[in-house]
Amino acid sequence: MTTKAQAVLDWVDERFPLTSSIKGHLTEYYAPKNFNFWYFFGSLALLVLVIQIVTGIFLVMHYKPDASLNASGVPVAFASVEYIMRDVPGGWIIRYMHSTGASAFFVVVYLHMFRGLLYGSYRKPRELIWIFGTLIFLALMAEAFMGYLLPWGQMSFWGAQVIVNLFSAIPVIGPDLSVVIRGDFVVSDATLNRFFSFHVIAVPLILIGLVVAHIVALHEVGSNNPDGVEIKKKKGADGHPLDGIPFHPYYTVKDIVGVVGFLIVFSFIVFFAPEGGGYFLEFNNFVPADPLKTPPHIAPVWYFTPFYSLLRAMVWPLFGLDAKFWGVVAMGGGVVIIAFLPWLDRSPAKSIRYRGPIFKTLLTIFIIGFAILGFLGTKPPSYAFFGVIPGAPVAQLFSLYYFLFFLTMPVWSKIDKCKPVPDRVTG
Ligand code: HEM
Repeated sequence: MTTKAQAVLDWVDERFPLTSSIKGHLTEYYAPKNFNFWYFFGSLALLVLVIQIVTGIFLVMHYKPDASLNASGVPVAFASVEYIMRDVPGGWIIRYMHSTGASAFFVVVYLHMFRGLLYGSYRKPRELIWIFGTLIFLALMAEAFMGYLLPWGQMSFWGAQVIVNLFSAIPVIGPDLSVVIRGDFVVSDATLNRFFSFHVIAVPLILIGLVVAHIVALHEVGSNNPDGVEIKKKKGADGHPLDGIPFHPYYTVKDIVGVVGFLIVFSFIVFFAPEGGGYFLEFNNFVPADPLKTPPHIAPVWYFTPFYSLLRAMVWPLFGLDAKFWGVVAMGGGVVIIAFLPWLDRSPAKSIRYRGPIFKTLLTIFIIGFAILGFLGTKPPSYAFFGVIPGAPVAQLFSLYYFLFFLTMPVWSKIDKCKPVPDRVTG
């Protein structure tokens, strides 16, 4: 560095911890040397967050949250999205990046969470990283749900109508609560305006705050790794973990490989399959919202459907409260229970590499069950596999399994036969 540049840097360092932050979080932040591709998804989640914010800023320049009808009888909000797609220069790519980004966010975050399950990354001392993660997941769901109302298509309108109505099933406060959420007795212009406000500013601020907390907590304790071994326990004479390497340049360069791979798939979808076969952009949402015409089949976007299946699985009233209420409890409980994993898992080994057959079998069934719940959530309740096996009882079975997997974990994770965990990472 030239003496002039060094002088400027010294001037800044005396007033702001620039060099020390770069050292503490990058060049002298030691991460385990055995990260595999599963460790790409944290940085990819950050990338998608940036894509969503940047494309969102440009969308807001042309989008109008207005449910009133224009001179052609089309809702202004819907027409403003059509305008972005057809008339705004580059508008189509910005919008498709944002809509594809929403699905990409959930793909990346689901894989990121699954990595946590594989390697026991939520275990002590990373409980807070996991709790912040679960809160991020909740915030992300709220963000996606409110964003989906904005194009004001049939699915936007009726999806919001169904989900907001669920809140009215909560005893005592429910009916008033759903009116507060909507700002009206039905989904209307007031709902569109408040969802817009939450989607563009309130929830993104919360998300960013949570992501910062997530990474601060991570850097406090350091990353786990595919062996589930604490690298800080074995340090060299220089005080650095023997199995650690500086995050920069090693992982900044490695993460670029993940970014390139991700961008290839992402671009392919944006350019060639932005509707994702009706899973990323539902076909019914190309029709303007019509409060007088209920679509025959209302289904949430794919990333909500496993939890939507949990909701629909509850068909019996219990303790004098109707089935809808228990459905809401199941759906909410399905997300909240994830936060308790650090205390439910009692296994002596963290990583799947050293865990026993019970964990491997139950986790496999859990993943298959979660995917089946997701698939069934996209179908009407009357759906039957191959036209013969009714989907509804299958969804109920896997919903029960979903909760039993977590609730019985303290027992089976303790008795499972684990292999001895090595002292050092194995590579
Ligand atoms: C916007 C969403 C998210 C972002 C930007 C994000 C970011 C990151 C980053 C950059 C890392 C370090 C790199 C890596 O380990 O992959 C990380 C680690 C981690 N994240 Fe997230 N994350 C997000 C959501 C979540 C969620 C929803 C959960 C779980 C519920 C979660 C749980 C974890 C855990 C346990 C670790 C530590 C992993 C380990 O050390 O093995 N994260 N996150």
